[in-house]
Amino acid sequence: MAIRLLAYVVIDTADVEAWRAYGERVLGMQATEREGDLRLRMDERPFRMLIRKSDGERFHAAGLVYPDKAAFDRGIAGLRDAGVAVEPASEAEAKDRHVVEFVRCIDPSGNRLEIGWGRVVDGAPFVSPAGVSEFVTGEMGMGHVVFPATKLAETRAFYVELLGFGDSDEMRVYMQGGPDDPGLGMHFLHCDNPRHHTVALAEFPVPSGLVHMMVEVPGLDDVGRALDRAKAANVHISSSLGRHMNDKMVSFYMRTPGGFDIEYGFGGIRPDWNSFTPTISIKEDEWGHQWDFGG
Ligand SMILES: [Fe+2]
Repeated sequence: MAIRLLAYVVIDTADVEAWRAYGERVLGMQATEREGDLRLRMDERPFRMLIRKSDGERFHAAGLVYPDKAAFDRGIAGLRDAGVAVEPASEAEAKDRHVVEFVRCIDPSGNRLEIGWGRVVDGAPFVSPAGVSEFVTGEMGMGHVVFPATKLAETRAFYVELLGFGDSDEMRVYMQGGPDDPGLGMHFLHCDNPRHHTVALAEFPVPSGLVHMMVEVPGLDDVGRALDRAKAANVHISSSLGRHMNDKMVSFYMRTPGGFDIEYGFGGIRPDWNSFTPTISIKEDEWGHQWDFGG
């Protein structure tokens, strides 16, 4: 039984106020607060991004959920059988994350996961302070995360064999260039929803703990307005607008206060996994996405 979706992310920061301003004014998410932490709302769920006061900038964990308790119990038993250290969270912690139950574990490359079940909704409407029409979430989950995975093959096997993910695409990126560059591998993996990839793995280390995360909006105007807001707030634009080869997403990338990037896009394809054949892309983009690693 596969993971259903990416429910939330947890980020540690020394500067909650920078994240609040960024979350509201640039991302267009709705900030709420409880016990000093910042929560950013994207839809009917009480939060999608939990930003915790800490002593530094670090992506803490991705919150993946199973559709129900039976699937969760089978999944966690499978992790334990495979020798993965699984630490159950307390009831209070589960309440804090707005799930019924969750466990903590670490993938073979060191990325932290919170794996749970249960969708708690509070009935409050999502109101974007920046006028974002809506975020594409629901059964698609909140978006995707791209993890650093220096143990690439082992980490892919963890998601595929233990958490029920499937291959969507793989590619090699050539960051040094030249004929001797062996390139670095990337795997794009889907779980049990139509989003092209919910977790992707990149074969290089990243100090912030995350390569990027992606949020999706319904149309080009919402992406364009986000780009205007980012530029107005002097946010570093890490990549210009472009369309990816593999998921066809039209997006741009911008730096977060956490040091990693957020991809803000629309128009990702929603494959039918029963008739889908995984691709091996030899090019990253159909057009655009010019990178600027400075800033
Ligand atoms: Fe992405």
